[in-house]
Order: sequence, then structure tokens, then C-alpha cells
Amino acid sequence: MLDVANLHSYYGESHILHGVDLQLPAGCALGLLGRNGMGKTTLIKTLLGLVRAREGRVRVAGVDVTRRTPFEIARLGIGYVPEGRGIFANLSVRENLLMAQRPGPDGRCDWTCERVLETFPRLKERLDTGGQQVSGGEQQMAAIGRALMTNPRLMILDEATEGLAPRIVEHIWQVIAQIRASGISTLIVDRNYRSVLRHTDRALVLRKGRVALAGPSAQLAADEPALQALLGV
Ligand SMILES: Nc1ncnc2c1ncn2[C@@H]1O[C@H](COP(=O)(O)OP(=O)(O)OP(=O)(O)O)[C@@H](O)[C@H]1O
Ligand SMILES: [Mg+2]
Repeated sequence: MLDVANLHSYYGESHILHGVDLQLPAGCALGLLGRNGMGKTTLIKTLLGLVRAREGRVRVAGVDVTRRTPFEIARLGIGYVPEGRGIFANLSVRENLLMAQRPGPDGRCDWTCERVLETFPRLKERLDTGGQQVSGGEQQMAAIGRALMTNPRLMILDEATEGLAPRIVEHIWQVIAQIRASGISTLIVDRNYRSVLRHTDRALVLRKGRVALAGPSAQLAADEPALQALLGV
């Protein structure tokens, strides 16, 4: 689903990613870990074409997208839940969901507004409320629902549980597990590395824009000293 080789990204003259490699086979879940500022979001933005790769290559579902626009890349079937949620404040929750509705790249239309509301029943009463008026948890649910409305093959979740109450965090992880069980590939960034390692097949840890550690999630979870050293928790 994703094949990244020797990726280098910059903001102006700041060299952020220093030759990142990663593979995400179709149907698998990959965790992306690392302390603040290590390049996780920059890596995601580079995959999506929001930050231009200065060197290296990104393939999505076998297609070289390194020089493509974010619009073209998303249309290959990527649902993106950005850091900070990116809910359109001046649109209602319903409009935030419906604006994203489209068949997947394979023509699938499994995800409808109804299915999103079954997944997140709390949004039912909030459909006509403005994106900025709903709680942080509801915004996060809407952001995940909106990404699912595109019927993606790959879901990318950047800090989808950030700043939420424990009960809502638990619910979001359950939904991530459902997404994964439905066969959608997932790339997950989250501060709670234990949850990430529980919900992924493989994981990698970024340190200053380089892959410092990578392997099966169960193997990483068993190496607490290495995680402590790299994640400082
Ligand atoms: N738009 C930008 N312009 C310049 N520098 C940036 C920009 N966005 C991020 N950076 C810098 O790039 C580096 C990597 O940031 P990035 O947001 O990718 O880290 P991150 O691993 O996602 O961190 P966090 O856990 O805080 O979300 C940091 O040093 C950050 O200050
Ligand atoms: Mg980030």
C-alpha cells in the first residue's frame, strides 16, 4: 500500500527527514512513534504531497506519487485524519461529513453517513451543529468519520486521541480496531506508544528524522529499555 524509500524533506533550509524508508503492506497497520518534533507529521505530509520530497520516492498502491499533488494522491484512496482534526468550523458536522463522500478507488461505497453515525452515535444529535461548536471528542469523531466517507484503502491518523477524555480515547481505539478489521490499511501516530503497539502489526520510531528502530509491534513492545531511550517516557 505504501512504499517509501530514502525520503528527504525540508522546511526552507531546515532538513527534517533524512532518508526515511518504510513499507506498509496492504491490509496491515503500521505505528509511527517518536518524541515531539522528530518528524512524524512531516513524514505524513510528505507522503500526502503536502510537503514536497526533495529526495527519495513514495509509492502508493504501486503508483509513484513523489511528484504528484495532494489531490491526486488522496484520490488513490487515502483517508487523512490530520493533527488538530482540521474540522471546517463554518460548516455543520453533517456538511463536514458529506463534503468528503465519494466512492473508493475500487468503486466501493461501504462508508455512508449512516454507517459513520452507527460508528459514532454521539454525532447523531450534533449533525446540525457547527464544527466549532461541538466538543473536541466530537470534532475528532467527525474528522475520522469524514476520512471514512472517502471509502479509503489507507487511513492515516495523526494524534487522533490527543487531549481527549479517557472514555473517548478508548472508543476511538475501538473504532481504529474496527477500521483495521475491515481490511483498511492504517498508519497510526499517537503519543500513547503502548496503545499504538497494541493496535499495529509493525512500528517504527523516528529520531531526528531518521528511523531509529523498526520491527514487529509485539517485538518492540517487549523491548521497554529501547522504547524508554527513544521515547523518553
Ligand atoms: N511548517 C513548518 N515550518 C518549519 N519547521 C517546521 C514546520 N513544521 C514542523 N517544523 C519542524 O520540523 C520538525 C519536525 O516536526 P513534526 O511536526 O514533523 O514533528 P512531530 O514528530 O510530528 O512532532 P509532534 O509529536 O510534536 O507532533 C520540528 O523541528 C518542527 O519544529
Ligand atoms: Mg506531529
